[in-house]
Amino acid sequence: MKKIKVLTVFGTRPEAIKMAPVIKELEKFPDIFESIVCVTAQHREMLDSVLKLFNIKPDYDLNIMKANQNLWSVTSDVLIKTKDIFENENPNIVLVHGDTTTSMAAALSAFYAKIPVGHVEAGLRTFDKYNPFPEEINRVFADSICEYHFAPTDTSVENLKLSNISVNHIYKTGNTVIDALLYIVQNKQADISNLGLDLSKRTVLVTAHRRENFGEPIKNICNAILKLIAQNPDIQVVYPVHPNPNIKNTVYSILGGKDRIILTEPQDYAPFSTLMKHSCLILTDSGGVQEEAPSLGKPVLVLRKTTERPEAVEFGTVKLVGTDCDKIFDEANILLNNQQAYKKMSEAVNPYGDGLASKRIVDILKTLSVQ
Ligand code: UD1
Ligand code: UDP
Repeated sequence: MKKIKVLTVFGTRPEAIKMAPVIKELEKFPDIFESIVCVTAQHREMLDSVLKLFNIKPDYDLNIMKANQNLWSVTSDVLIKTKDIFENENPNIVLVHGDTTTSMAAALSAFYAKIPVGHVEAGLRTFDKYNPFPEEINRVFADSICEYHFAPTDTSVENLKLSNISVNHIYKTGNTVIDALLYIVQNKQADISNLGLDLSKRTVLVTAHRRENFGEPIKNICNAILKLIAQNPDIQVVYPVHPNPNIKNTVYSILGGKDRIILTEPQDYAPFSTLMKHSCLILTDSGGVQEEAPSLGKPVLVLRKTTERPEAVEFGTVKLVGTDCDKIFDEANILLNNQQAYKKMSEAVNPYGDGLASKRIVDILKTLSVQ
């Protein structure tokens, strides 16, 4: 029997974390699938650490990352460098993930090669063109190209219907990030003693990287952290800093060398999951962290104006606080000092999946017809 050829393309840390379970699931059926992995390496070190953790060896590595790269170079490199691969491999389907520029450009490239595309984590929306930028338009664009829409939640299914995508092409699967998180939490508990945490203090975990937070917003976030540290002698802040120079330079210049603030390199996924579990509160502008933390019962304050992940906000475990310094301080300070408010937000809920999203996606791929 002819195998179904699935070519998976991804390039950044979150895509790798969320596509790894799908690749691992495909590998369980070598008689049915030929699985080919192409990484664009829009990220380099942060991608490689996930590939190593999940033992994924790409068939193609486009190695496109440049220091302080821009959207134009990422888009054109992905588009041009995937052309020959898509044409030569001629897979039955190309899989892309989410809303990065890798995903948008790879979907376009596959469309130009007339290859059907499956979109994992389809249908997320803020309906605000510039928030997040450029991700909102990247995902709208990818959704308009794709034939298979693997939507994580009911909300994302509804968003796709609003975009006039036929229900016959929409599959509610859950989010593969929960598959990845459960696998790591159950199998790869990491030692975080190298971070030098003071175990007598409560830990606040911070991450931020979004383009719309460059400049004033990231300065405000850092100043709110200084204020929190000054007002709460029993806390420490751990902040794995994203390597983007637009973030890193500001964060180190404001928070570097300060007492009870631990700035680190980005953490590998296993220690980062342990850190999330160890923390009492998370401040972040990350998409993935908004999905993971509620399953661990950790309150999240989202350092953004909008979110495409309203489910946990509705459940009350995630709150949008924006990037005003006083607002971030006030909201975090309440959670650190008011047990009732904290308890209300720290219920462990899991609106994003049950750990079986990859299985559902692969079951659907098994139905692809191959001539
Ligand atoms: C990208 C995605 C964003 C996603 C984020 C996850 C786009 C436009 N943006 O944003 O949607 O939320 O990844 O983290 O697709 N860098 C390194 N090493 C790395 C990774 C990045 O040094 O392993 C530095 C480089 O200087 C690079 C810069 O970070 O040029 C920016 O990387 P880029 O992928 O363009 O933007 P992100 O902010 O990471
Ligand atoms: N993450 C990680 N190490 C870190 C920070 C984040 O492994 O130091 C993981 C996190 O658990 C989540 C993913 O990276 O699964 C989110 O990536 P990021 O915030 O870069 O991107 P986004 O989700 O916002 O697109």
